[in-house]
Amino acid sequence: MAKTKTTFFCQNCGAQHAQWAGKCNVCNEWNTIVEEVIQKEEKRAWKQSSPSKKVAKPLKINDIAINEEDRIDTQNNELNRVLGGGLVKGSMTLLGGEPGIGKSTLILQVALTIDKKVLYVSGEESQSQIKMRAERLKNTNTECLILTETKTQNIFKSIEETQPDVVVIDSIQTLQTDTIEASPGSISQIRETTAELIKFAKETATPVILIGHITKEGTIAGPKILEHMVDVVLQFEGDRNHTYRILRAQKNRFGSTAELGIYEMQGSGLREVENPSEILISEKDESLSGTAIGATLEGMRPLMIEVQALVSTAVYGTPQRSTTGYNTKRLNMILAVLEKRAGFRLGAKDVFLNIAGGISVDDPAIDLAVVASILSSNEDEAIPQDYCFAAEVGLAGEIRPVNRVEQRILEAEKLGFQKIMVSKYNKIPSKKYNIKIVLVSKIEDVYQQLF
Ligand code: TYD
Ligand code: MG
Repeated sequence: MAKTKTTFFCQNCGAQHAQWAGKCNVCNEWNTIVEEVIQKEEKRAWKQSSPSKKVAKPLKINDIAINEEDRIDTQNNELNRVLGGGLVKGSMTLLGGEPGIGKSTLILQVALTIDKKVLYVSGEESQSQIKMRAERLKNTNTECLILTETKTQNIFKSIEETQPDVVVIDSIQTLQTDTIEASPGSISQIRETTAELIKFAKETATPVILIGHITKEGTIAGPKILEHMVDVVLQFEGDRNHTYRILRAQKNRFGSTAELGIYEMQGSGLREVENPSEILISEKDESLSGTAIGATLEGMRPLMIEVQALVSTAVYGTPQRSTTGYNTKRLNMILAVLEKRAGFRLGAKDVFLNIAGGISVDDPAIDLAVVASILSSNEDEAIPQDYCFAAEVGLAGEIRPVNRVEQRILEAEKLGFQKIMVSKYNKIPSKKYNIKIVLVSKIEDVYQQLF
């Protein structure tokens, strides 16, 4: 019988300590150190491997063969896009997100449409609960197996019996391995069960998708090392009051992290949104003052986003500035630029800014749309609905160029916009566009062009 060994782990950052302390000296959190039993046994749960102890040999890089078929098409275009073209064989993908955002729905939906044998292991819901959920979703894959189990040893037994092509674990925080005695969800259990699954994935070239909980700070619960261990970390986000969900890659060993997938949560599951611009711009019969449309890029995808501003006389001494979906500090900066460089008296006004659709925008190209919507609300004069904007605003009141402006112009053109305002300093490939390109270089020009 091996000697029982215990160590102290910080439940916040995963740091290992030799003894208990009130405060973790790594992440400075109080009361997070917990003693966990780690019974070091020699055997790992997944031990099917190498019949002979082969030693890996180095190969010349040109001699290493790869074939593109090593990716599995998930039959879900948005997910494929974010993964960089499909699930790579033998890869570990971790999907994190707030509770109730739709992680289980997304993965179950993929399991039900992919034309591969999937083993969906759930430690959170019973088989009949999953069946009930599946009834609501489009179901074409009859090869989808559902297992409710939390012990990795039993999961591996089922895997050996059923030989699935893809394994899904919902969620990593519910898993437990026999080799360790800590409770499920603890740092050492998460680390150990993930290590076992990685070993399985790499040895059998089976892709594994892990669903993970996130902490209140928004990071994936468990040791940070979990994110280092897996190949792909996906984040599923969105506002629970809105129906749109965004899937982003935080880390991807097989593709770009700039890509993004957009879904809409419906009664029958998640619908892939192929043309996001159409849903992000609200349908109106008449133009209203205070709205402007920005041609932004999220990753490689152009997105037309509606910005709404409300400028009104401040009731209290200090004017209020409030934003949804846009950085408040950046709004303050833009207001200061408007005040200083263009003489607009906004200092005594409340300014509210809202990005439609419950999404948040980081692309600086939205700045010009922000400026336009503020000016429009201040003047109480509407901007024509077929006008859009793409430029960054600098501290000197200059209108700065943005990257990949042609792609933005083409998207605006495709969606039927008549005019787009961009920086004079942008190099625009000269060809015939079906949209009028308005060039501006200073904040004052913007005002003159619009009103
Ligand atoms: P779920 O996938 O259980 O979230 P997570 O696994 O991330 O915790 O998502 C649950 C939410 O999704 C729930 O609040 C209801 C909603 N939903 C729909 O709107 N339509 C559907 O068809 C399904 C299955 C869920
Ligand atoms: Mg779930």
